[in-house]
Amino acid sequence: MQGNQPRLFDMEAVNIYPKPFLKWAGGKTQLLPQLTPFFPRYFERYSEPFTGGAAVYWQLFTLRKQGLIQFKTARLTDANAELINCYVAVRDNVDELIVLLTRHRERHSKDYYYSIRSLQVENLSPVERAARFIYLNKTCYNGLYRVNRSGQFNVPMGSYVNPRVFEEAELKSASFALQGVELKTADFREVLSWAQAGDFIYFDPPYAPLSKTSSFTSYTETPFGEEEQQALASVFRELDHRGCKLMLSNSWVDDTLALYKDFNCIAVKASRAINSNPEGRGKIRELLVLNYEV
Ligand SMILES: C[S@@+](CC[C@H](N)C(=O)[O-])C[C@H]1O[C@@H](n2cnc3c(N)ncnc32)[C@H](O)[C@@H]1O
Repeated sequence: MQGNQPRLFDMEAVNIYPKPFLKWAGGKTQLLPQLTPFFPRYFERYSEPFTGGAAVYWQLFTLRKQGLIQFKTARLTDANAELINCYVAVRDNVDELIVLLTRHRERHSKDYYYSIRSLQVENLSPVERAARFIYLNKTCYNGLYRVNRSGQFNVPMGSYVNPRVFEEAELKSASFALQGVELKTADFREVLSWAQAGDFIYFDPPYAPLSKTSSFTSYTETPFGEEEQQALASVFRELDHRGCKLMLSNSWVDDTLALYKDFNCIAVKASRAINSNPEGRGKIRELLVLNYEV
């Protein structure tokens, strides 16, 4: 927020329902019709420890606006610091962000893409970092997020003829939906220091691989392997004991079914977009875990 002044929003931003404005691997937009019937109707606080494109938060915000569910506050966290910095800029500085993005969109070319990609984020202001992040996300190959060992984004340019980069109304409606939302760069385990009985928490981790050779785990500098999947299941059990309402997505494989066998395991159908193995494309069964009855 600018100083202590409340932001003024144009009516268009207030009336448009927010939706993901980033391309994010594993985004949940296409699964929302299947997830929505399982959302609890009343809770005080919402949290998403693997926020990514935030499809589920935008949906909960919309359902609340329509009077279909009730909750008071939300807390979105993710291990990707550039992603969280981007949401902070959208929340607090959307007008300046739009000016910078307009400039990126006007100047877009191959040379420009690689010059922006090579910038060191430490030398940029938070809002410049956010504009760079959105610009690269919308013009890079497949919207992938991948960094090298020193944390530098290294995805090549995609072959879009006229990339959209951003929609002003979409960013403004996201900004409106993020007012009052707590945003933090954090490992998923950090939810333990915050969660209390009655909270609703949705976990959408990098999925366990369908086979040992098909893993896609490079959203951040740190991979998400078997150990992390087990640690996540421990967090889930701990929060269950605390009395939180929990929902979790993952792949439908023996390892995850074993980790969550004491909970309500539901099969949902999804189509996989990012998968190097062509046999993995098309409709596949995914796991939805709940620790409550609907
Ligand atoms: C499957 S994506 C979430 C997709 C999101 N639900 C959506 O609709 O776009 C997984 C997210 O987990 C984050 N992540 C990876 N390892 C993490 C960790 N150890 N703690 C917290 N977040 C992590 C990644 O940065 C990524 O944004």
